[in-house]
Amino acid sequence: MTQDTAVYPGFFDPFTLGHLNIVERATQVFHQVIVVVAEDSPKKSMFLPEERMRIIKEIFKNSKKVKVDCFNGLLVNYLRKTNTKILLRGIRTVSDFEYEYQMALANKTMADDVETLFMMTEGKYSFLSSTIIKEIARLGGDITPMVPPEVVKWVNKRYET
Ligand code: COA
Repeated sequence: MTQDTAVYPGFFDPFTLGHLNIVERATQVFHQVIVVVAEDSPKKSMFLPEERMRIIKEIFKNSKKVKVDCFNGLLVNYLRKTNTKILLRGIRTVSDFEYEYQMALANKTMADDVETLFMMTEGKYSFLSSTIIKEIARLGGDITPMVPPEVVKWVNKRYET
């Protein structure tokens, strides 16, 4: 199986510098990276799926290699529909691995031709999570060292209203 496209899924509520780090490094490996926003979030979200997509599109507006899309339902169905087979996931810590391992095996059981590839998140971003960003923003802290400037703009707008 040779593929030049990787699919990078997540809730991205919001997209962080850790996510950006994975996507930028993935563009050095793949011709195209599709960032796909999961619409059905089990968690209370800060941004609607269409807002998350808009923010990510703004972040990558100058990158020809990055496409942004969304999906609902099973991820393997999205891969089938788009005829893509490489799933990219970032791993921050050992504890991420157990969950990722389960998810990769479940996806493989449902779609044997899908391969999950893991990339280690750079150490300086390993503490980051979307929940931490939301907590700091809610309490009025500075999130600028943790997220792309486009996210800062949207989060500030959210807390103005
Ligand atoms: N840098 C910083 N943070 C990162 C990161 C990185 N490189 N990679 C992940 N994270 C953080 C996220 O910010 C998020 O933080 P939060 O828990 O505080 O919100 C957390 O890790 C989870 O990551 P995320 O990628 O947003 O979601 P997820 O790991 O829960 O996976 C899907 C989401 C969409 C991939 C998964 O639920 C899915 O495939 N859903 C569709 C249904 C399906 O097919 N399920 C598979 C059957 S097993």
